Amino acid sequence: MVNVRRGQLRLILATVATAAIVVPLGWMWYASLVPETYSVMDMGIIDLGGGPGPSDHAGMDETPGALSVDTLTGPQTGTPDVAMTLTAEQGDLPLEGGPTVDGYTFNGSSPGPEIRATQGDLVEVTLVNESVSEGVTIHWHGVDVPNAEDGVAGVTQDAVPTGGEHVYRFVADDTGTYWYHSHQVSHEQVRGGLFGTLVVEPRAAQVEPPALDVVMAVHGYDGTDTINGRVGETWVDAEAGDTARVRVVNTDSGPMLTWVAGAPYRVAAVDGRDVNKPTDVEDTAVLVTAGGRVDLELTMPADGSAVRVGAGGGETSMLVGQDEADAPGTDVPDDELDLLSYGTPAPLPFDVTAPDREFDYTIGRRPGFLDGRPGMWWTINGKLFPDVPMYVVAEGDVVTMTLENSSGQVHPMHLHGHHAVVLSRNGIEATGSPWWVDSLDVGDGETYEIAFLADNPGVWMDHCHNLPHAAEGLVAHLMYDGVSTPYVVGGEDDNHPE
Ligand code: C2O
Ligand code: CU
Repeated sequence: MVNVRRGQLRLILATVATAAIVVPLGWMWYASLVPETYSVMDMGIIDLGGGPGPSDHAGMDETPGALSVDTLTGPQTGTPDVAMTLTAEQGDLPLEGGPTVDGYTFNGSSPGPEIRATQGDLVEVTLVNESVSEGVTIHWHGVDVPNAEDGVAGVTQDAVPTGGEHVYRFVADDTGTYWYHSHQVSHEQVRGGLFGTLVVEPRAAQVEPPALDVVMAVHGYDGTDTINGRVGETWVDAEAGDTARVRVVNTDSGPMLTWVAGAPYRVAAVDGRDVNKPTDVEDTAVLVTAGGRVDLELTMPADGSAVRVGAGGGETSMLVGQDEADAPGTDVPDDELDLLSYGTPAPLPFDVTAPDREFDYTIGRRPGFLDGRPGMWWTINGKLFPDVPMYVVAEGDVVTMTLENSSGQVHPMHLHGHHAVVLSRNGIEATGSPWWVDSLDVGDGETYEIAFLADNPGVWMDHCHNLPHAAEGLVAHLMYDGVSTPYVVGGEDDNHPE
């Protein structure tokens, strides 16, 4: 009898213990399920950053005179200065000098055509989806376009289905190096080649243009590294004494070093913003975060030798000079340029000492369920997607944001529609040129304080540009109080921005 009772008791205890684990787990699993269709407006936790605004989602919907993102377009009339059709296709992608991979193209190539505009130009791009079965959009990475032109499926538009088209119109207000890419199932489509570059040149009268002005888009297709779609070394013609501007674009998901060997160089711009009084450096590399850009400026050596612009491990490089001229080797420099102290300070266009809103974007990682899948997932401010912050601002606000990362990996953080200036890193204040970014490499254990002016109303993504991380929930949004989006994630159009 005693034995039986003990046995029963053990069973009961075991059952209770199991239930104590399984029931909460089941609840966590259930609570993590993301609905098939949802509006980002209803998503996450409202964060007012110390400013006024609705304290809950219901309050947001009630905002009188809510402005739809659909109304926040570029100019709808006027003859474009730059007009182009970009046709997206899915299928075989033969890499120049390399294998054929399964991928995507714009106008038959990847990268798609380079778009060149002059500051102030009205740009009109018609996106045609020829054969991308999951649908496609175009996001203008780093161009602070009006919200309706931002190209985010499910937030600013519906994904364009096969046979469909969508017209983007915006004024290229800011000079600089940018790129464009699909923002529908972006973690597959961008990796697979659905991107291109966009350069906005200054008006001719303003600056003496360099003799050579070339884009260097670095991309790995299925493990094959390329520059402008070409495998291995790429030669570009320049003569002794020429000035050259090489616009390096990191279109991959991880950070990348770039440098010039064979001549001193300076970092003339970062993320489309000029560096104030950049100085020459030598035997030094500069880090370009995923999605980021740097413009390198140099003068070709007088002796006629070539210059190497390296990227990543060095084998992928651009050789500038007369074909077959002597060129330096592929060694990666030991020194790395710190943009926190590079160049000369200049006044900021807004006062960062008394911000209207202060936000935290703290990235961690913990076990849990993401849409029902168990795993180690990214957290923002301690919570898993979709319980991520919805940062609310009002037009005209000066905003500071503290980006902190203790997740064990690096995250290239990208805020749409705005450029932010770096105020400090790990508590050390910036002492160089104003360091403006739209994409910022936040390493494990690092803390950055950035500031921006809320001057572009809309609903904007603020996410990790290691695109698989975004697909794993490292996504939040910045929204302007009183703006709403009629688009939904999921839904009939199968919008999946990440
Ligand atoms: Cu380069 Cu959200 O994008
Ligand atoms: Cu990340």
